[in-house]
Amino acid sequence: MKAIIKQLTEAFGPSGYETEVVGLIQELIQDHVDELRTDVLGNLIAVKHGSKEGKRIMLAAHTDEIGVVITYIDDNGFLRFAPIGGVGITTLVGNRVRFANGTIGVIYQEGKTEWKELTLDKLFIDIGAVSKEEAEQKVRVGEFAIFHREFTDLGNRLIAKSMDDRIGCAVLIEAARRITQPKNTLYFVFTTQEEVGLRGARTAAYGLEPDLGLALDVTLTGDMPEARRMAVTLGQGAAIKVKDSSLIAHPRVKDLLVKLCEANNIPYQMEVLERGGTDAGAIHLTKAGVPAGTISIPTRYVHTPSEMVDLRDVQACVDLVLAAAQADLAGII
Ligand code: CO
Ligand code: ZN
Repeated sequence: MKAIIKQLTEAFGPSGYETEVVGLIQELIQDHVDELRTDVLGNLIAVKHGSKEGKRIMLAAHTDEIGVVITYIDDNGFLRFAPIGGVGITTLVGNRVRFANGTIGVIYQEGKTEWKELTLDKLFIDIGAVSKEEAEQKVRVGEFAIFHREFTDLGNRLIAKSMDDRIGCAVLIEAARRITQPKNTLYFVFTTQEEVGLRGARTAAYGLEPDLGLALDVTLTGDMPEARRMAVTLGQGAAIKVKDSSLIAHPRVKDLLVKLCEANNIPYQMEVLERGGTDAGAIHLTKAGVPAGTISIPTRYVHTPSEMVDLRDVQACVDLVLAAAQADLAGII
């Protein structure tokens, strides 16, 4: 599974430009699902049929990652940019970006800027060009870039950019490969444009009309020095979401996930996220409403180029998806 996580997290996929990631996932699951298609916006939908008594579950993980878009190129070949998704300003100075064509640039700040006064419009990207003309040979206004960083294996713990949410994609891929005959019909949806407002999940859910929606996404932890008070710890299991800013998990869905963990000896913890959202926020408001919840992968340093997860939590999330696939949902949803 580590090899898959490395591949997925090192791929290029800012919001709206996720085709490289989608291509990778297609290759990894095509032999393990009954149907595979992409939709208009760029969601990848893989279907695994269940039995007649089963229900229809949409499992969503987003393929996009945060990044930047070039807004302006000056006469000396320096680029200005706007954020794509929730880019944290403290993570930028000295970091590198990578464009679709492989061009690398370094982000730095204007000369006299005080650290406390740093804003995005005081930052520029240097791609090694000495003029506007030379810069435009490599990058044009409107092009997207991601934060450039390699995957690192620390044993149980892994660091990479875009663990948010390639780790959720990896959980679904692993689950799809391990399930042979699910009781419930499973729609594995690898969604586009989550980081800019849960957009792909919205149209996918509208088209699929599932009986149950589950998002697989990262959540924050409260286990670093002087951290926020949050009862989620790396290595303590799958996090079952109670609420975030986009969703109050349907009580019956939340209770079902807890029961499945207890019945299958899957380590879990309850998650209350004060700010942030996932695809489940869009799914549960679809049409007349869809009961929905989220299985979260505890992650440190979210939205930096060095997001850290624990492989044992990832495994717990896979086990929980496998349990949901076989669960008897009659009378629950
Ligand atoms: Co995110
Ligand atoms: Zn995410």
